[in-house]
Amino acid sequence: MKFFIDTADVAEIRDLAATGLVDGITTNPSLVAKTGRDFIEVLSEICEIVPGPISAEVAAVETEAMLAEGRRLASVAGNVVVKVPLTPDGLKACRALSDEGIGVNVTLCFSAAQAILAAKAGATYISPFVGRLDDIASDGLALISDIVEIYECYPDFTTEVLVASVRHPMHVVDAAKLGAHVATVPPNVLRAMFKHPLTDRGLEAFLADWAKTGQSIVGDGEPAALSPAAEERRRA
Ligand code: E4P
Repeated sequence: MKFFIDTADVAEIRDLAATGLVDGITTNPSLVAKTGRDFIEVLSEICEIVPGPISAEVAAVETEAMLAEGRRLASVAGNVVVKVPLTPDGLKACRALSDEGIGVNVTLCFSAAQAILAAKAGATYISPFVGRLDDIASDGLALISDIVEIYECYPDFTTEVLVASVRHPMHVVDAAKLGAHVATVPPNVLRAMFKHPLTDRGLEAFLADWAKTGQSIVGDGEPAALSPAAEERRRA
C-alpha cells in the first residue's frame, strides 16, 4: 500500500518525507488556504521535496476552465497529478487531461457508481472520502470494499483506489485489508500509526537493562571491522 500525505504544509512534508515512508502528497483548496501561501509556489516546493505523485486541485467548475487550470498546474512539475471533482464537467476534463498524458485524481467520490464513471473516464486515481461518509453515519470502508471489488472485475480499469478523508489509523488498516492501492493520511494519523504503549514500555525496559551491562556497541566510536558478509552488503 502506498502512503500519500494529505497536507500542503511544507514543513510537515519535509519532516515526514525524511521517514522514507512517503510515496506522494495530496492537497486540496482547503489545505492550500490553510498555508496562507501562493498555491503555485507551494506546489513547486512540494514537488521538489517528494518525487512521487503530488495532487493539485483545480478550482474551476467548467470543463474548459478546468483544462486551463489543470494544464497550468501540470506545467509546474512532471510529478503533478491534477485533481478534478466528480462532476460531469470534471470527468470530461479527466478524459481530456488523461489523453494528454497528465495524471488525474478524481476527488469527492462518495459512491461506487461514481467510481465506475471515473475509471471509465481514465482517472489515474479515484478518491473516495471515508471520513466524511462515516461523519454522516454511512460506512466509508464499505465503499472502499465495493470499489476495490468492482475494479478487480475489470483488468482494463487501471484506476487506483486512493482512500481519502482518513481520520485515524484504523481507516488505514481496514483499507489495507481491503487491498486499496493508496491511503492519503493527514500527518497526525501517520504519526499515530507509529504509536503503541507496549513499544514505549518495552524500549524503556531494554534500555534500562542495557545500561546495567555498562557496554557500548560502538565502543570508543571507531567503526568496528565488518564481517565479509556485512562488507559485501555495504558495497552493494
Ligand atoms: C484528499 O485528497 C482529500 O481532499 C482529503 O482527504 C479530504 O479530507 P477531509 O474530509 O478530512 O477534509
